[in-house]
Amino acid sequence: MLCAQGVAAPLMLSSFLLQLVRANIPSGCLIASDILSCTNLGLDQVPLELPITVATLDLNHNRLEHLEEGCFAGLPKLDTIRLAHNQLSKLTPGTFRNTSKIHHLDLSSNQLNIIEQHYFQDLVAIEELLLYNNRIVRVESKALSGLSNLRKAYLSHNRLTDFPFFSIHEHPNLNTLDLSSNRMPNLPIEEIGALEESVQQALFLHNNTLICECSMYSMFRHWEQRGFASVREFWEEHTCLLYGEQRASVRFLQHVRFFENCTVKRLAQTDSKTAEAGKSVMLNCMTSLSGRNVTYWWVSPHKEYIVPPGNNNTLRMYANGSLEILQPRIEDSGLYLCMAQNPQESHNQTFEVNLTVTIYHQEVEPFNTGFTTLLGCVVSLVLVLMYLYLTPCRCWCRKQPLPATPSPANECSAQSSILTPTPPATTEGPGRKMCQSTAASPHQPLAPDIWTTRASPQ
Ligand SMILES: *[C@@H]1O[C@H](CO)[C@@H](O)[C@H](O)[C@H]1NC(C)=O
Ligand SMILES: *[C@@H]1O[C@H](CO)[C@@H](O)[C@H](O)[C@H]1NC(C)=O
Ligand SMILES: *[C@@H]1O[C@H](CO)[C@@H](O)[C@H](O)[C@H]1NC(C)=O
Ligand SMILES: *[C@@H]1O[C@H](CO)[C@@H](O)[C@H](O)[C@H]1NC(C)=O
Ligand SMILES: *[C@@H]1O[C@H](CO)[C@@H](O)[C@H](O)[C@H]1NC(C)=O
Ligand SMILES: *[C@@H]1O[C@H](CO)[C@@H](O)[C@H](O)[C@H]1NC(C)=O
Ligand SMILES: *[C@@H]1O[C@H](CO)[C@@H](O)[C@H](O)[C@H]1NC(C)=O
Ligand SMILES: *[C@@H]1O[C@H](CO)[C@@H](O)[C@H](O)[C@H]1NC(C)=O
Repeated sequence: MLCAQGVAAPLMLSSFLLQLVRANIPSGCLIASDILSCTNLGLDQVPLELPITVATLDLNHNRLEHLEEGCFAGLPKLDTIRLAHNQLSKLTPGTFRNTSKIHHLDLSSNQLNIIEQHYFQDLVAIEELLLYNNRIVRVESKALSGLSNLRKAYLSHNRLTDFPFFSIHEHPNLNTLDLSSNRMPNLPIEEIGALEESVQQALFLHNNTLICECSMYSMFRHWEQRGFASVREFWEEHTCLLYGEQRASVRFLQHVRFFENCTVKRLAQTDSKTAEAGKSVMLNCMTSLSGRNVTYWWVSPHKEYIVPPGNNNTLRMYANGSLEILQPRIEDSGLYLCMAQNPQESHNQTFEVNLTVTIYHQEVEPFNTGFTTLLGCVVSLVLVLMYLYLTPCRCWCRKQPLPATPSPANECSAQSSILTPTPPATTEGPGRKMCQSTAASPHQPLAPDIWTTRASPQ
């Protein structure tokens, strides 16, 4: 209540007056230009009067148990709130009302229990969210989904048994989601595999109570092969429980014997790409290795070994690892394997692209429709042309006693030379063929001929 009123009244005043009204801050607080630090003062309430210029509000190490609705409103520059080491167990709806510029919120080392959907809803600009060392057992499925600017979220050292992984798929900037040191027995491997590679790379899942099993093991092995920092930096802390037995916790990346019978399955980390026959396609080698001295090479489905600059006429390879297929054919479909090697770190990484080359009428809907319309137009045009040009030809041919052997100089071949450039041209003498078929029946035999020529692949 105190907080909410404290905001509503000053709103009426000019910022100068507001500054004065808000200047009465608890003794012991320090002001360093735009930082207000009130740490370790035993506060059980957010100070009512805060300077309007404050950008960083530090309330760490106090005794806050709850925050009033709209507590931080009316502070237009507020960017960072630190509330670590307090006794917050839940957040009132509207706590962060009118704080749309907050980038950094630290709620670590509190007693939060459930991350409810409304908690961070108002924090549209939030980039860093610190929630480690609470008592969180559950994150509601939409609690993080609207926070599209989120870069780092720390939820380690809690009591999570699961997490709504699907809710973070629209977080393009996410680079750390720390779920380590929780109590997750199982991971939804397919759900995680369906996330974009960049989001998968952000996941830190070590030191959970995972039950040892093949799909879990395969996922981490893949991440290791990809050089994910989460696995590289916490390699030894990836543990799982043999037979789900709490005491039988093993470092599974280090001691692999339990998994000797696992086939390391391919996950959705293989990139899939669809290309149109004849239209150049670029395959990127997306590994986390970068720098000028990284060397790349590819192996095509035809077991060709490709290094820059590629082979001259069909495959072009760039120094950044990208492989361009200039004129893909149906038979170029398949798994392309890229390997990146960084000599300094003596580190290898592989990346795969599953390329599917299609011919145009198997393409996506809008294009397909467009092409069908175009084909229809061409066919109609051809039929109209035939109707116009073949009518005199047919009459002429009928008069001829022996239609099978037209003389080179007759009208029929003159017409044929006009018709020759049209698409359904066959290898036989076109004029002659047309004369014969039209003599039998005007349109019927011609139309299917066009369709079969156009529709068959290549
Ligand atoms: C707070 O937000 C509400 C709507 O979200 C708006 O009507 C109000 O003016 C805002 N107050 C401040 C102090 O920005
Ligand atoms: C691993 O998790 C347990 C339980 O969550 C915790 O007590 C322990 O400190 C964690 N270990 C590390 C190294 O973080
Ligand atoms: C793997 O399979 C072999 C042969 O079937 C078996 O002897 C061995 O015990 C299995 N290992 C594990 C860890 O299950
Ligand atoms: C790349 O390698 C060259 C020598 O081969 C070395 O001088 C240079 O420092 C390396 N660059 C980087 C970024 O590692
Ligand atoms: C292109 O490749 C063919 C065979 O792969 C080779 O005979 C020819 O010399 C190459 N041309 C150039 C310009 O490298
Ligand atoms: C690699 O270089 C090529 C040619 O400069 C470019 O078209 C391609 O987009 C680059 N790939 C990446 C992943 O940047
Ligand atoms: C990387 O691959 C190269 C070539 O296959 C191999 O010689 C090298 O030992 C590998 N290095 C590592 C660290 O796996
Ligand atoms: C590649 O994609 C095709 C078609 O989408 C699929 O049938 C095939 O199994 C995939 N191959 C691999 C190795 O993933």
